[in-house]
Amino acid sequence: MTAIWLLMAMPVAIASGQAPASGAKPPEQAARGQAIFFDESVVAHCGSCHSLEGKGTAVGPDISRLAKLSPRGIVTAIRATITEYVQTVKLTAGSEFPGMPAAKVTGSLQFYDLSSKPPVLRKFAPNEVASTLVNSKWKHPPSSADFTSQQLADVIAYVKWASYGDVKGVKTADIE
Ligand code: HEC
Repeated sequence: MTAIWLLMAMPVAIASGQAPASGAKPPEQAARGQAIFFDESVVAHCGSCHSLEGKGTAVGPDISRLAKLSPRGIVTAIRATITEYVQTVKLTAGSEFPGMPAAKVTGSLQFYDLSSKPPVLRKFAPNEVASTLVNSKWKHPPSSADFTSQQLADVIAYVKWASYGDVKGVKTADIE
């Protein structure tokens, strides 16, 4: 995602800060955001692809790295239409799929297949993958979802609280 330039713009803010102790209760707004993040009634809920507080599935990148950006910066990262990591994986057998590279394992190429909901981890021998190309088709789900500003602010408040214990909350005016 285009978040790279955001990271470079604020390198100091990324490293510090402490996640809350496990089992800690979030403040009200972060609690609303937490419910949205892990809302299993929504097929593409954030937690189906991102892990926070040790919950969810780490298909996508660790978003706690971005948590100290301004709320508007985080929205930009969520809504970015250009991806940074996702690739179009073409198989020798002919088919292709949008793949998020997973942990490197010697002798095996591993991708989360984002065409499945939720994404599934697929493992290939190197000769089964014909090529990996820059992704131009897959779009990050929230860019097309109908989140209200309030819901987005709540989710960001949760990301900030879960990542570094921030309890200030996020106003809708901060992201509009
Ligand atoms: C279907 C899986 C999926 C869902 C659902 C999803 N994400 Fe993502 N997300 C990804 C992937 C994959 C990337 C990396 C895209 C890229 O740049 O290649 C990403 C990137 C991001 C980034 C930027 C991270 C970075 O390092 O650039 C943020 C922030 C983010 N997601 C937040 C969210 C939030 C908040 C939600 C819920 C509202 C959500 N995502 C739902 C898969 C998902």
